[in-house]
Amino acid sequence: MPVVNRIAGMKEEITAWRRDLHEYPELSYDVHRTAASVADKLKAFGCDEVVPGIGRTGVVGVIKGKRHASGKVIGMRADMDALPMHEITGLLHASKIAGKMHACGHDGHTALLLGAAKYLCETRNFDGTAVLLFQPAEENGGGGKAMVDDGVMDRWGVQEVYGMHNQPGMAIGTFATCPGPMLAAADQVSIIIDAKGGHAAKPHLAIDPVLIGSHIVVAMQSIASRNVNPLDSAVVSLCMFHAGTAGNVIPQTAELTGTARSLTPQVRDMLEKRIVEIAEGTASMFGARATATFTRGYPVTQNHARQAAFAASVAAQVSGKDMVNDNVRPVMGGEDFSYMLEARPGAFVFFGNGDTASVHHPAYDFNDDAIPSGVSFWARLVETAMPA
Ligand code: NI
Repeated sequence: MPVVNRIAGMKEEITAWRRDLHEYPELSYDVHRTAASVADKLKAFGCDEVVPGIGRTGVVGVIKGKRHASGKVIGMRADMDALPMHEITGLLHASKIAGKMHACGHDGHTALLLGAAKYLCETRNFDGTAVLLFQPAEENGGGGKAMVDDGVMDRWGVQEVYGMHNQPGMAIGTFATCPGPMLAAADQVSIIIDAKGGHAAKPHLAIDPVLIGSHIVVAMQSIASRNVNPLDSAVVSLCMFHAGTAGNVIPQTAELTGTARSLTPQVRDMLEKRIVEIAEGTASMFGARATATFTRGYPVTQNHARQAAFAASVAAQVSGKDMVNDNVRPVMGGEDFSYMLEARPGAFVFFGNGDTASVHHPAYDFNDDAIPSGVSFWARLVETAMPA
């Protein structure tokens, strides 16, 4: 069964919703206009229940099938937040808010799930309950965790949960998922070097934090190459190095900031241990002191094998088997859908955004041609998991 005809006929309407969201991007938990628009639409479609304010500004919509004797409950999640950056697309529907932009396609994700809600409210051709989870603060702030902490899974008895994200570079209509880890744990690294400032012409009387920081940056490269099993994956990137105020002054302190990524709890623990050891040990070797802080961010997005295979089979129904990769390589980005997968079995799925700028690029735009297959995926997921 290909793209659902009724859904293909809704493309223009869903595109209009998506572009409206795109024009008014909102950040983190401050997604008030977006959440209100989502709640209004869900009510207009005839959802059985629409509850705002879950996980601060998240919205939950509940749709019961024409039968619900099966007792099955499937959760589907879309993220609503944008990024603090300036859009350069010059499109008619470009952001109207300076310094804010839907550069990750969450406007598209929200519109896809709204389209599925409208279709499912009209047809109700399933035996069970569909729970739609519209979350704030995916980019930072852990809105997915906030919704789980607010009891969203227990309150509506969600048994399995699914999420989707667009991928530039993947063709329109293609899908990809995998069993096990799909996105990385994303942790923050902060190192403060406390040394001894002085005159640049008298380095022997100072302890130079810039030199120490440079040694730390180089030594950190040995973690991925010499501590991680070659068959495992890890990233350690120190991306900010702040020190000094003048060309002839050795500063007193230096600060390094970065990120560590891993796909298993063992590698994650090892990264934390080695980053702290290398920072503090290197500083001590030069007679200074470093304080290294490893702050855990989003955990690994860990797909459950049965649900990943099911999601791939639904994608194959919509697009054909050759358009679906059911064993895609994980990526080292992070995703707070991970918290929902810690709470319930489920799977995350990538879908093609075509040949566009990459996400988080100022020229990015969600590709509306992905709407028919994306919405059909959600609809068929519900109808297949809970057949009437
Ligand atoms: Ni995103």
